[in-house]
Amino acid sequence: MIDSIIAAVHDALVEETGGQLADYIPVLAEVDPDEFGIAVVTANGDVWAHGDTDTPFTIQSVSKPFALAMALQKCGPDQVFDKVGTEPSGDSFNSVTLSGDGKPQNPMVNSGAITIAGMLVGEYGEGGAHIETHDMFSRMAGSSVGFNEDVCRSELVTGHRNRAIAHLLYASGVVTTEPEAVVNAYTKQCSITVTAKQLATMAATLANIGTNPITNDQILDPLTVRHTLSLMFTCGMYDGAGDWAVHVGVPAKSGVSGGVMAVVNRQIGIAVYSPRLDEHGNSVRAIKALTMLTEELGLHAFELTNAGSSMLSVYL
Ligand code: DON
Repeated sequence: MIDSIIAAVHDALVEETGGQLADYIPVLAEVDPDEFGIAVVTANGDVWAHGDTDTPFTIQSVSKPFALAMALQKCGPDQVFDKVGTEPSGDSFNSVTLSGDGKPQNPMVNSGAITIAGMLVGEYGEGGAHIETHDMFSRMAGSSVGFNEDVCRSELVTGHRNRAIAHLLYASGVVTTEPEAVVNAYTKQCSITVTAKQLATMAATLANIGTNPITNDQILDPLTVRHTLSLMFTCGMYDGAGDWAVHVGVPAKSGVSGGVMAVVNRQIGIAVYSPRLDEHGNSVRAIKALTMLTEELGLHAFELTNAGSSMLSVYL
């Protein structure tokens, strides 16, 4: 039943061509705009996939919740939230601003994510942070994730806003490690590649309270998962977050390469990949697909039909 619902959503949106490719990272504008895949992994480890779900794409901002989870586990929530706020920003994701208290607004906008990258560089060094991040993402995905050297180089050449943010954070004392090293680490984190199937497994690991449901690898503790999902719910879709909460109602995170990941607590992880974006930097077709899927399956967090793991018992 779930399989036919996913297939129907995929078929209904195959002709959808709204939105534009991200071109501020030049290599991202070279991808095939028509690629479209939907993958769903349950907290029991069942997998459904339709379309281009084995195509690797750079994870971009969808890396932010996972890097946050790493910092929460390594440094603890007090130290993390001492440096990064928890309020939605209302600004664009790459805004070169801090909130009134001198901190980044939240870990899902670039200023917050660069601060988190700085914490990981402080813990592991620049090279070590990349190795740890690659390893943690692979464990969450249940298989080795990749890395796109060309995208990384392209973003480092054009990443002046992120450099400006890192230097602002350094000047404000929020980032205490060398800002260029922090930008390098953040850009490498964004250039890790995943397929939609891998990303859905990463989402399902969050849904399964930190244990990968396919490998049974216990990666994150429950409090880390709770904090991470809360911030995805309130801040994961940038300026579109309020609208998303009303109409879709699941914690989610988007990235400029066109991936969107959504988590239904204790039930499923969903990943949709389609590269054309709206004005907020969110994939147009992924938003439509997730809106349709959550509606069809009754997954909104406050939906009458969504009672804990009821979806699993109804459909499996
Ligand atoms: O920092 C950047 O601009 C990119 N590496 C990531 C931005 C991103 O994915 C924003 N999401 N919609």
